[in-house]
Amino acid sequence: MSWSSSGGPGHTRGDGTVTAHAPAKVNVSLAVGPLRPDGFHTLQTVYLAVSLLDTVTVRRGDGLSVTVTGEGTGGPDPVPTDRRNLVWRAAELLAEQAGVVADAAIAVDKAIPAAAGLAGGSADAAAALVALDALWGTHATRGDLTALAARLGSDVPFSLAGGVALGSGRGEQLTPVLARRQWHWVLGIAEGGLATPAVYAELDRLRAAGRAPEGDGAPSPEPVVAALRSGPPRALAAALTNDLQAAAVSLRPALRRALRAATDAGALAALVSGSGPTVAALAEDEDAAVRLAAVLAGEGVFRTVRVVHGPVPGARLVG
Ligand code: C5P
Repeated sequence: MSWSSSGGPGHTRGDGTVTAHAPAKVNVSLAVGPLRPDGFHTLQTVYLAVSLLDTVTVRRGDGLSVTVTGEGTGGPDPVPTDRRNLVWRAAELLAEQAGVVADAAIAVDKAIPAAAGLAGGSADAAAALVALDALWGTHATRGDLTALAARLGSDVPFSLAGGVALGSGRGEQLTPVLARRQWHWVLGIAEGGLATPAVYAELDRLRAAGRAPEGDGAPSPEPVVAALRSGPPRALAAALTNDLQAAAVSLRPALRRALRAATDAGALAALVSGSGPTVAALAEDEDAAVRLAAVLAGEGVFRTVRVVHGPVPGARLVG
């Protein structure tokens, strides 16, 4: 990569800030294959970006600093504000590749809960790449940013791309999928997160014990891709699948009741989003999603619920 830092980026506001948004994701299908020697699992997934957005605002600073506000900042397990935060590593990586000094104050305002199976940390990293590229005037191409994103995490390329995409490899290799419409969902957000590595490890344990079917490594995403092309929410509802769901339920048995509560309340179908513990409940249309959210909010099974739609675009500059 040979990038220039020409300065004078067009997206910097009068107060010297640049802001980007990035969306949460739901895996409408997630087939987990074998464990690879590098510690990741081969997978085939179909990602759908939904309208729950984190906001990352950057300004020039002296060295790097990260602040986090919003979802997940008040609990017992706060989002880190040091190098453990993926936005910090995104800034270091972009600066290193572009040959600039990593000077930036990065403010992350979270709407996407952390450790929820919604790729919130990946969304923040993708938004940080886009915002810092504009702040620093590093002029990375979308392809450059995607390559950096893949080094940061399996879901980060999709957070950058948005829309609907088939993910293979460890999730980072993307092929866009045609989707003919918007789908409406209720996200049921649990109290407390689940660590992604623990959920994959639980799946390995369940498989070794013969309590979950083995992944064959090349599962077909065709049913869900066909449902996305054809359009009716009922077709998508019938095709939703997630191999990590059994592992998430095993670690968090209350999820079984949460999934049942969503279908009892009128969802066409409900599944665990990614590694969980968020439940994604599909509704017939927007009105049905609003009604479903009201019922679920009243039942007290979830800490909070959000009505979202998708597909929506990936990380992009705002303002
Ligand atoms: O890539 P990412 O940082 O999101 O992955 C977090 C963890 O999730 C990995 O360290 C691994 O334990 C697990 N993982 C996996 N297979 C994948 C993606 C993630 O085992 N395809």
